[in-house]
Amino acid sequence: MKPPGAPGLPVLGNALRMMGDVQQFLVDTHRQMGPIFRVRALNQAFVIMAGERANRFLLERGDEVFSSEESFGGLNREFGMRVHVLRGRPHRHLRKVLATGLSRELLAARWDDVVAETERALGEWPGQPALPVVDRCQRLAAAQLSVAFTGASSAARFDTLRSAFELVLDVTIAGKWPPVALKRPAYRRARAEIHEFARAALAERAAQPRGETPDLLDRALEATDENGKIYPLEVRAGMALQGYFAGINTVAYLYSFMLYALLAHPDVLERVTAEVDRAYAGGKLDFAGLRDLPALHGLVLETLRVYPPAPGSARTAIADFDFEGFRVERGQRVLVATSVPHQLAEHFPDPERFDIDRDFVAGRRASVYAPFSVGSHTCLGAGMTEVLAVATMAMLVRGLTFTMPDRPLRITATPGPNPGKRFTVAAARR
Ligand code: HEM
Repeated sequence: MKPPGAPGLPVLGNALRMMGDVQQFLVDTHRQMGPIFRVRALNQAFVIMAGERANRFLLERGDEVFSSEESFGGLNREFGMRVHVLRGRPHRHLRKVLATGLSRELLAARWDDVVAETERALGEWPGQPALPVVDRCQRLAAAQLSVAFTGASSAARFDTLRSAFELVLDVTIAGKWPPVALKRPAYRRARAEIHEFARAALAERAAQPRGETPDLLDRALEATDENGKIYPLEVRAGMALQGYFAGINTVAYLYSFMLYALLAHPDVLERVTAEVDRAYAGGKLDFAGLRDLPALHGLVLETLRVYPPAPGSARTAIADFDFEGFRVERGQRVLVATSVPHQLAEHFPDPERFDIDRDFVAGRRASVYAPFSVGSHTCLGAGMTEVLAVATMAMLVRGLTFTMPDRPLRITATPGPNPGKRFTVAAARR
């Protein structure tokens, strides 16, 4: 039997809610319809699988019945980011290669440069009555990640990188625009510029090796496939771009939601500030000390629970299968709504309460806490993101104070859920 259809508008279907607070839509519809249902967004139809058993299904059977080609193929075709679409041994191999270039160790090695870049960016925040938080966090995250991964700032290319990556995501994953949008001359120019940028960075590194801890560029330069053959240049360029691509959206959305959560919960802000001031007692924040900031770490994990920047894994069924008594047919697009359990009281008691002291370890173990998804395509940047988010919030709280207008948060998905352009604050030096 086909999964039941979620109620929606004629023509638009569920598009409006999916372009807004998509996580809330998934949670509400799961409550109403159960663990599997169909949604429509304009001309796209998805089966949504949600809840603890859906996450377990993705973890245990994802490789066997799903492909990521339709959802993520655009990233591979347009920018050589192949890890998203590979399967089996070639996938496991490329993940291993990439993991060496996206590691926390690299962040540790580049720590002083990342701190300097962060302080430079945050130094520009005070003095504006309505600072656009998402935009500033995108610039900050892109700058931090590019310094960590490549040793150089990408600030000059930021607008080009952001517009091209967002368009690809909107076309391929969100299905907001038809594929013909990728033929627009402005996009083709931006894409060509990004290709040139990645290739030039690799060529420069080949000509002038840095010599210390190998970074993402070093790893990409020498990367060989599972048969020992050097990857094509486009794939190595895609590896070099992978860090910027991830940071421009997800990490920035996380920072923005964390700032919102701090300002919306003064008790949390007070605890976090006291913890940060203790950490700065020696005059500066050192990398080793970041492990010892439980309130801040709780803030990162609770923000990811309540406001997951990537609340689902988009796939296509490559075989017919049954789930919870319903049949999903080969070719059907599926979204496993991996963060729906975050809002279910059986896994997170009193889920509406913002509580930085929850037991995230148990949630993670049971695959019901899944802001980075579960299974073979789990996020490769999760470890680094958590450390970087702790560090960034520490620097932010240490240096600045904020006021935000008394306006309700309005989440919008462009392409992932974020607080949108309307979320502004005024920052002052502390
Ligand atoms: C808040 C920050 C982040 C969130 C919420 C996030 C979330 C995710 C999710 C949900 C996936 C799985 C996608 C799927 O199921 O197909 C994923 C994959 C991935 N992420 Fe992240 N991510 C974040 C930051 C980062 C960063 C900073 C990097 C790189 C430095 C990164 C690199 C990757 C890569 C390479 C994959 C693909 C892995 C594969 O397909 O095998 N992510 N991320």
